[in-house]
Amino acid sequence: MAGVVQSVQALASSLAALPPEFVRPEHERPRATTFLGASPLQIPVVDMSLPDAGCRMVEAATEWGIFQAVNHGVPADAVVELQRVGQEFFALPQEEKQRYAMDPASGKTEGYGSTVQRSPGDKKMWSDFLFHNVSPPAAVNHGFWPDKPRGYRQANEAYCGHMRRLTREVLERLSAGLGLEEGAMAEAFGGGEDGLVLMQKVNFYPPCPQPELALGFAPHTDLCALTVLVANGVPGLQVSKDGLWCDVEHVPGALIVNVGDQIEIFSNGRYRSVLHRATVSREKTRMSWPVFVEPRREYVVGPHPRLVAGEIPAKYDYKAKTFENYRYCRINKLPQ
Ligand code: OGA
Ligand code: NI
Repeated sequence: MAGVVQSVQALASSLAALPPEFVRPEHERPRATTFLGASPLQIPVVDMSLPDAGCRMVEAATEWGIFQAVNHGVPADAVVELQRVGQEFFALPQEEKQRYAMDPASGKTEGYGSTVQRSPGDKKMWSDFLFHNVSPPAAVNHGFWPDKPRGYRQANEAYCGHMRRLTREVLERLSAGLGLEEGAMAEAFGGGEDGLVLMQKVNFYPPCPQPELALGFAPHTDLCALTVLVANGVPGLQVSKDGLWCDVEHVPGALIVNVGDQIEIFSNGRYRSVLHRATVSREKTRMSWPVFVEPRREYVVGPHPRLVAGEIPAKYDYKAKTFENYRYCRINKLPQ
């Protein structure tokens, strides 16, 4: 039985000052570390309808590990509906959201929760989340899918269909960019039809009384293969580039695609798993909807053999660790 979720959303509605457990150490505070003024550095924008889209993606994955995709073929309505049901879920009374509480003791990641419950002693992050698998059908537990608001399930299923198509396309382009067959990554990660696991997350960042002292999400790389994210138009996502934190200036309608650890490792370091974080705002609620594309559990973490042949040594050696094990170590902050 999961405990009561101590949500940041509930906390935010009753506070004038930031509780000390949310105050980041000086060197992590957003204002002190963000590139000020109009950033000369911006993540690449890739127009997926153009013939050079593959090259641009490969370039972006190599230099940055992240890009904004435009003309991606995901209908605007599907995004609007996904966002509507997520917003309406977080607007429900706390008791209703609590029905989907994540159980931190279970070792599972699915459910509704906040980082307030996690790792005592760690600094807290100013956000709540809802997290559940969306694909393949065998990995889906509808017990974690809210039955309110109406249309939640349809919206998530429809969006997931688009994500499956889009991620297949990105994986194909990135495989080709490594000199491999287009299907190489999907085959390795998925091991066949429906092998790739897609997880939908909704991040909820309430207004914060002292945003200059807090972070919505601490710096991290995504442990999955690939992430595709949309947000609600409130800025907050930052990426690390050449030692600076840069704001991602979200192009309206774009999807933000980032490389995760599994593609960096698979590519033997040719592609980068981008370090990123999220800041918060004093007045506005920010929301984001990342989809994490993960390898199957039994996938053995490591570089593709063709990319370590000859003079290029393997940069990564996980001693035949499975993805399930990799994830366990990351979540529990154990060495890889
Ligand atoms: C995440 C994440 C960033 C954002 O959930 O892994 O990095 O913009 N979120 O919400
Ligand atoms: Ni992330």
